[in-house]
Amino acid sequence: MEEMLKTLPQHTCSWSKGKITFYKYQNYWTSQQLVVGEHLAQQTFKAEPTGIFLCSSPKTGTTWVKSLAFAIVTRQKFDVSTTPLLTKNVHECVPILERELDIIEENHKNSSLPLVATHLPYPSLPESVIASNCKIVYVYRNIKDVIVSHYHFLRKALNLTCEDAPFEEAFEEFCQGISGYGPYWDHIIGYWKASLERPDRILFLKYEDLKKDPTSNAKKLAEFMGYPFSAEEEKAGVIEKITTLCSFENMSNLEVNKTGSIRVGGLENKHYFRKAEDGDWRTYFTNEMKEKIDKLIDEKLNGTGLILK
Ligand code: A3P
Repeated sequence: MEEMLKTLPQHTCSWSKGKITFYKYQNYWTSQQLVVGEHLAQQTFKAEPTGIFLCSSPKTGTTWVKSLAFAIVTRQKFDVSTTPLLTKNVHECVPILERELDIIEENHKNSSLPLVATHLPYPSLPESVIASNCKIVYVYRNIKDVIVSHYHFLRKALNLTCEDAPFEEAFEEFCQGISGYGPYWDHIIGYWKASLERPDRILFLKYEDLKKDPTSNAKKLAEFMGYPFSAEEEKAGVIEKITTLCSFENMSNLEVNKTGSIRVGGLENKHYFRKAEDGDWRTYFTNEMKEKIDKLIDEKLNGTGLILK
């Protein structure tokens, strides 16, 4: 592995004061710690056909979709007052492919939880995920808010102030495609192309749509995963109870999410909850930045019909 790492292109982010080095593995940028788990997952992971993969680029709504999917899939076992989501951060409830293969295998063996989360791009998923025809949920978000969210997440994880870490430099690097699992547009296009070939197996959700209408999107998610809400459940307001449970207001105010740390990687839970606002980019972008990113994304997504602005 060490030999392989040495052969990968590397990029140390100037804005991070040299604290972040991305490695280009296959066609995406990742970290040295993650590349080991990613390689292992690709080599050894055997997907079960019942597996449901929650896929995303970082900072696009992963935490939210994982919470909703977990609450939906486990609702016969737990209700909104007993769910583990109240006492554990969701990243401890839904295991991550590139970090927690043992837990995923255990869950499959016991048929306890079909959910697996990953940031891997579609072409880099373990072959068995595609061969087993597993269902895939993909969440994406407008690129400008992702850039801002990505910057603050890494900045806080590295204990850097905004003065220490110039946003303009982070923006330029993102535009060059250098971000966690980036280029961001390639990540989306990979899943989008696959969804055209296998529309019944890949569900696209947009962060902004989820914000506008959590109820109908939670319903869509439940149906797609094979856990539809019954008419009685709908009447009893179960969908709304789940969306309220998983809302930013509720999740970000739970003690565990204010104070705890993640089992793997040691990141503080509170960093997964910042503002959850649409359009926060307006606070950070100059007109030139807006024009540059809009032009770039128009070029990259030309013909897909996807809107990331
Ligand atoms: P901001 O940084 O814009 O606030 P991810 O989960 O993919 O890492 O994405 C993190 C982003 O989703 C952050 O955005 C975070 O605040 C927001 N987020 C986390 N939980 C959320 C929830 N329950 N509802 C809406 N947004 C949420």
